Amino acid sequence: MKVVEIQNLCFTYSRKGTPIIDDFSFSLNTGEIVGVLGQSGSGKSTLLRLISGLEMPTKGTITIAGKPVVGKHIFVQPEDRGVGMVFQDYALFPHMTVKENILFGLSRMARKGWKQRVQEMLELVHMEEFGDRYPHELSGGQQQRVALARALAPKPKILLMDEPFSNLDADLKESIREELLSILKKANITCMIVTHDRKDVEAICDHSITMCPLIVEHGGSGQKFQTFP
Ligand SMILES: Nc1ncnc2c1ncn2[C@@H]1O[C@H](COP(=O)(O)OP(=O)(O)O)[C@@H](O)[C@H]1O
Ligand SMILES: [Mg+2]
Repeated sequence: MKVVEIQNLCFTYSRKGTPIIDDFSFSLNTGEIVGVLGQSGSGKSTLLRLISGLEMPTKGTITIAGKPVVGKHIFVQPEDRGVGMVFQDYALFPHMTVKENILFGLSRMARKGWKQRVQEMLELVHMEEFGDRYPHELSGGQQQRVALARALAPKPKILLMDEPFSNLDADLKESIREELLSILKKANITCMIVTHDRKDVEAICDHSITMCPLIVEHGGSGQKFQTFP
């Protein structure tokens, strides 16, 4: 089954500006982990923001788990899309503990399930001992795992990760990659991972797409991107 289907997506930040995304079509099957490669400024983060509902496209359709979320006269709000997002800087709430950060994602779930779900998420990301700490008391890798736990807690249909390794020490990268892959597999989640490092894709992803910047290469024939099986 297709978890995400994108058809003929177009987007510009300003009405007269250059298109950032032009006639972009793409689909993603259940359980796949797809890498989104491309140089800086090619629209990778914008693509994730369009899928999660933080931006509104000028044209095109997006369907998530069979439900149209973007289309003619359709715009489903981010919180109703079933999309989990891990931002480049993790965007944890600094004044909330790890547990409170994870709880934040659960406000729509029945209150009686909260405690158990937080516990499950702490176990999934191996952070059982750290539930009462604040983000500034954690390493970068630990903060990333909390962001992952918060995004996965509401059981999203798809997880979007924007440059998950860019803020981590290079010498930790390999072990964090392995750990991330094992968490994603255990959570059995469909995932898109933005990165500019092909090695991340080789280590984690089933396949990848490469975005090309339209500002340089726009030829009017649609977004150029390559897929690698
Ligand atoms: N809020 C914004 N307003 C105007 N232009 C933006 C905004 N955010 C990004 N852009 C531009 O859109 C293009 C794509 O940006 P982005 O999606 O962040 O690329 P990437 O994540 O691949 O580096 C860039 O040229 C960037 O300057
Ligand atoms: Mg980006």
